[in-house]
Amino acid sequence: MERTQIKELIETAIRQLDYAYVPYSHFHVGAALLAENGKVYTGCNIENAAYTPCNCAERTAFFKAVSEGVHDFRAICVVGGMHGQLSELAPPCGVCRQVMMEFCDPETFEIILAVSPEEYQVFRLKELLPMGFGPGNLKGGARA
Ligand code: THU
Repeated sequence: MERTQIKELIETAIRQLDYAYVPYSHFHVGAALLAENGKVYTGCNIENAAYTPCNCAERTAFFKAVSEGVHDFRAICVVGGMHGQLSELAPPCGVCRQVMMEFCDPETFEIILAVSPEEYQVFRLKELLPMGFGPGNLKGGARA
């Protein structure tokens, strides 16, 4: 991905930090998911007094896109920090990596983890979820 496109995606993810509903952890997470069609789907984490229904920012973004019929994705940017202050990378949890595995090619899908538009690292899904179980495994090995 181009540097300017990465920067834009990071800026969009950072804007989502304000929307995080985090009265329990106070850990704000923002996500910006770039679809193959060029559209960007945003997400924030949404917590719940019963704890288990908490939803991560990444899954909010994916589920918004999938609920609109979009299944093909290029990259996601994730940012996060206590009280919305970004001081270190906020890597996606295992459940979110598995959701990515459902819809994204682990060889090409990019995960951009950032602390600012200037300071970031880019990973492929296969690096963050080696030997992941995906739709292809239910079809005798080939990816869906
Ligand atoms: N969180 C995310 O939104 N994404 C992740 O991948 C890791 C964790 C959220 C869940 C919870 O609201 C807060 O961060 C603290 O775990």
